[in-house]
Parts: sequence; structure tokens; C-alpha cells
Amino acid sequence: MEFSIKSGSPEKQRSACIVVGVFEPRKLTAPAELLDAASKGYLADIVRRGDMEGKAGRTLLLHNVPGILGDRVLLVGLGREKDFREREYREAVRAAVKTLDETGAFDGSIYLTEVPVRRRDIAWRVRQAAITAIETVYRFDSMKSKKEEVRRPVRKLTLMVERRNELAAAEAAMREGEATGQAMSLAKDLGNLPGNVCTPTYLAARARAMAEAAGLTCTILERADCEALKMGSFLSVANGSRQPPKFIVLEHRGGKEGDKPVVLVGKGITFDTGGISLKPGEGMDEMKFDMCGAASVIATMQAVAALKLPLNVVALVPATENMPGGAATKPGDIVTTMSGQTVEILNTDAEGRLILCDALTYAERYHPACVVDVATLTGACVIALGHVATGLYSNSDSLARELIGAGDDAHDRAWHMPLWDDYQEQLKSNFADMANIGGRPAGSVTAACFLSRFAKKFDWAHLDIAGTAWKSGAAKGATGRPVPLLTRFLLGRSAG
Ligand code: BES
Ligand code: MN
Ligand code: ZN
Repeated sequence: MEFSIKSGSPEKQRSACIVVGVFEPRKLTAPAELLDAASKGYLADIVRRGDMEGKAGRTLLLHNVPGILGDRVLLVGLGREKDFREREYREAVRAAVKTLDETGAFDGSIYLTEVPVRRRDIAWRVRQAAITAIETVYRFDSMKSKKEEVRRPVRKLTLMVERRNELAAAEAAMREGEATGQAMSLAKDLGNLPGNVCTPTYLAARARAMAEAAGLTCTILERADCEALKMGSFLSVANGSRQPPKFIVLEHRGGKEGDKPVVLVGKGITFDTGGISLKPGEGMDEMKFDMCGAASVIATMQAVAALKLPLNVVALVPATENMPGGAATKPGDIVTTMSGQTVEILNTDAEGRLILCDALTYAERYHPACVVDVATLTGACVIALGHVATGLYSNSDSLARELIGAGDDAHDRAWHMPLWDDYQEQLKSNFADMANIGGRPAGSVTAACFLSRFAKKFDWAHLDIAGTAWKSGAAKGATGRPVPLLTRFLLGRSAG
């Protein structure tokens, strides 16, 4: 899908479809009023007759509206004006793009971007419109033998701004929204692919292909390289699998030589059976999504490259399956991590932290400005925060604030969770420096506590996306989160 920014009156747009909003009850927005004036009361008439009351999510497509240059007019219900917030704005854009995609219109001029949203400026509205539009037309059908037939999908959206002096900000916001939306689609594609296709080898190949297309450096560390680096913990998770592990490194050098990079780390378990501590069968298919952290950081690197951010950014992805093969790690086994600290593996299903800890130690060599890891780490985080907020942990309150702010801005929210030392006791082991599990209470916190022991040398944050990376049920599928949060965070950093 292509986007452009424009300023001008709705009755003068030569477009396949002019999209304007109507508030409940029966109140035309300013651009709708202009169309109404040009058509001598045509819209007001329709609204008066009760065909468009302005209820949120409702749409009405009109042909041959008199007095205007566009082929069609799409009225979109916005709900009550006093309740019109971020969520309602996004829903309105979604409804509009869905309708456009289902009609014969190839392009549309969207005036919803001119409707005020509390606390949000034109840049926010344009960025969100682009992201939401891309999300709305996203399909994953690469594994279906017959593709879903869409007659004439919408190809081009013009996002309208009211004043000419808003054009520059809107253009920049459009590029950011586009890059974010496309990165989310990549993250979703990788997440939605089944475990037999999206293996560590496949993930590495896709990361390399993306890097070549985008102009990033890509290095893949093989098992032997990881052995030489003494990544004993990461490799212990790979022991039960036939698939070779890969450690993926992506580098964007947009900043000055010598500028400390932001390092992103993504959990890349391409399938999590639990290992010898085998998971129950029900819903286990969803553990193909256990590489969504990896997908989100790989995809964010694509956005970073597309936007040419003047920043050095590195992505690290330890990728492996967690399988119960004959050589698999057993409960009670003790491994030595790359940091030298030893871990008693009491539950092989707590494998995410075992691969992330070595990646965090590997990050030290970059002398990072900060490190942010992203992982579908704990079921306990889903219990704590559900599917709305990502769990955020950090050893730096200012980094935490920065990430929370980026999440609010991107409408991809995270919630700051505690990382107090009091929780560390739960990781005590009788035989090694620590255990890899901390018992039932506060399972998401103790997982973060485990990681914190490998993040002492830099500012670090951990995003537990177990509840937000994918949806279950009828709409089962990857969400592309937290690509918007990460992209916004990095943009904020590059703005100074
Ligand atoms: N990948 C899972 C976490 C998960 C589970 C995410 C369900 C989303 C939905 C992780 O590797 C895991 O199995 N964690 C265990 C940890 C436990 C053994 C301490 C969990 O959460 O049950
Ligand atoms: Mn697990
Ligand atoms: Zn896992």
C-alpha cells in the first residue's frame, strides 16, 4: 500500500473515494460539512433520514454524490464526539480501510486525519492512520494453497491535513508510520509461520535477506562459534533438538563511529515444547510464537534502516528449538553460562532466560548505551497483565520511563513492574549459583530477576511480551507488538 499527504478541500479531490467522519448523533465533521455544502445538502439529508447516525464502526458508501469530483463518498461513524479518543480514532480508520478494501476503489482520500483527538497532534494521527491501514489489510496466506480472493484491494491512501503548515510534520509521520507498519507485517509473518518452516536456520536466512535488502550488516554465529564463546546456557537449550542453533547479529551504523549503540535482544525459540519438562498438549501449537521477541527486533531493525536513524543499533537473536530429544538437558542439570555464573536447570521449560542470559553477556562487547530484551518469557505475565500491556522491568528508572513513554505514544503500551532485590531469594539453588525458576509466586518478576544478574554492566530493560505478541482464538495470529514501541523509542533517542 502506498501513502501520500495532501491538503485541500474534499469536494475538489479527484479520488475513487472521499472518506469523512460523522459523529453520533448525526453530526457532520468539518470535511463532511464541506461535502454537504458542495452537494447542496445531500449528506445532511441522508443523515436526517437515519441512514448514518454516526455510531462507531458504522460505514455508508455513497455513489454519484452531486457537486463533487470524487467517485464515491464513504461516511464513517465516529461515535460520540466527547468519547472520541485514540481507540475510537484507530477503530474509525480501521473501519474505513476495511470498507475501501472490499469495494472497487483503488485509492482513497482520508479526511479522518483532520478530526481532533485529545492530546494528539497531526503527526500522531497520520502515523497511527498509516499503521492502522497496513494492519487492516494484512493477510497471512502464504501457507494456503488457494489464496483468498480480493477483487480490487485498495492500493493508495492519501492522508489529508487541514493546514499547509502541517504538511512537513505529516510527511515525516507518514514515513514513520509506513516503516512501522511494514516492520509489523514482517514480525507477524515470521511469527505466524509454523515451527517446521520457521526454524533457527530459516530465521537466520530471513534476517540475512532483510539485512541485504535494507543495508544492514548481518553475522550468523554457528554452534561452533557459540561453543568457542562458551555460551553453555544457550547451547544447553539446543541439546534436545535436531535443528542447529543460530545466533543472529544485525548491525545498523547510522550514528557516529564510536557512538555507543542501543542493543536489542530477542528471544528466538522457534518452538517451545518445554523440553523434558514437557508442556501439556492443549494449545501447544501456540508455542510456535515463542520467537516473537526475535521477530520484533529483526523487524524493528528493518524500520531503523528504512528511516535511516542517525543512531547505532544492534540486534542480537539467540535462536533454537526447545525439544525433548535424547541429548536434551534434564531437570537438575547444571550449566555454566557465558558470564561464568552457573545455573541449576530445575525446569527445562524455563528456557527463554537460559538463551537470553548468554545474549546479554555477549552484548557487553558493544559497551552499549542500553540493552532492551524482548521475550515471550512467562505465562505468569499473561496472568498479571492479560493481553493489553507488555510487562516492563528495568535496572534504570529513566530508561523505563523512556520506554513507557514510547509505548504510550505508539499506542503499544507497557507497564512498569517491580524488580526489587527481595524477589532474588526465590532463585536460590543448593547446588549452583542460581536456579532457573523461582516457584509459583511472581513468576514474571523472578524471570526478570534472573536476567538482571546478567545485565549488571549496562542500563537494561526487559519486555515480557507473553500476553501481547499474539492473539489466541478465532483471530489467532501474531500482533507485531512491540515493534511500534521499539521504533518510537529509537526515534526518540535519535532526536536527542
Ligand atoms: N514460552 C513460555 C512462556 C509462555 C507461556 C508464553 C504461555 C506465553 C504463553 C516460556 O518458555 C515458559 O514456558 N515459561 C514457563 C516458566 C516456568 C516453567 C517457570 C511458564 O511460564 O510456565
Ligand atoms: Mn518454555
Ligand atoms: Zn518459551
